[in-house]
Amino acid sequence: MKSAIKVIIKSAYKIANSNIEGFRNRLPINLNQSEPWNDVEEFRIRMSEIKQHTLVTEDRCFNIYQYAKYAGSKKGDIAEVGVYRGGTGMLLAKTCPSKTVHLFDTFSGMPQVDPVVDRVREKDFSDTSLEAVKIFLSCCDNAVLHPGLFPNSARTIPDGLFCFVHVDVDIFKSVKDCLEFIYDKMVAGGIIMFDDYGWRSCPGVKLALEEFLIEREEFPIITSQSQCMIIKSD
Ligand SMILES: C[S@@+](CC[C@H](N)C(=O)[O-])C[C@H]1O[C@@H](n2cnc3c(N)ncnc32)[C@H](O)[C@@H]1O
Repeated sequence: MKSAIKVIIKSAYKIANSNIEGFRNRLPINLNQSEPWNDVEEFRIRMSEIKQHTLVTEDRCFNIYQYAKYAGSKKGDIAEVGVYRGGTGMLLAKTCPSKTVHLFDTFSGMPQVDPVVDRVREKDFSDTSLEAVKIFLSCCDNAVLHPGLFPNSARTIPDGLFCFVHVDVDIFKSVKDCLEFIYDKMVAGGIIMFDDYGWRSCPGVKLALEEFLIEREEFPIITSQSQCMIIKSD
């Protein structure tokens, strides 16, 4: 009887350990607690490719990387509104190579702002161009550029759903327009991630989200890096 119990315990231990090994293959063992992104090899490579082309800090890019990977297992495309020089767009395209990644921007700077709620100015971020971003992203077959003012620039994309959308547009009206266009196109469990939530230079981001969510059941999940996520309910 005793030896039978020993055998059962041994095999249970083996099964548990083999599961742990499988899990460890997905994450490094000695994860740096304060800067875990330093130990994730794939992310380090992505960051080295994009760092000259993004305003988004490493910790925030790591959040984009993780949540896009997670939501990318669902059906639907990926999108980003607010591409600028293409940094976070490339991060999305390379992190989810089997997904079409729609990238929306004027590629000529910020549109008209409302000085009452916005602190950035019209034409900020105009030191980029469609041509330059095209060249930067030429290695990503799954990235599709949509130049122009969003959401007009999205009218021509085929009707479909999104599983992950990164919104990095800085001003009240653009965030509101994104929410109104994107929200109904999200799959259940899909994630819309906003940059600059609560950021002093972009007060319109928080305001637009608060207004939009008043009549909806989702609530904003805020990270310590001034990002905010909505997970679309069923
Ligand atoms: C802070 S930048 C984006 C930064 C980028 N994600 C990165 O990796 O560095 C904000 C961008 O939003 C774009 N933008 C804001 N509102 C827009 C709108 N309604 N339509 C198209 N582009 C918009 C601006 O042109 C600008 O390039």
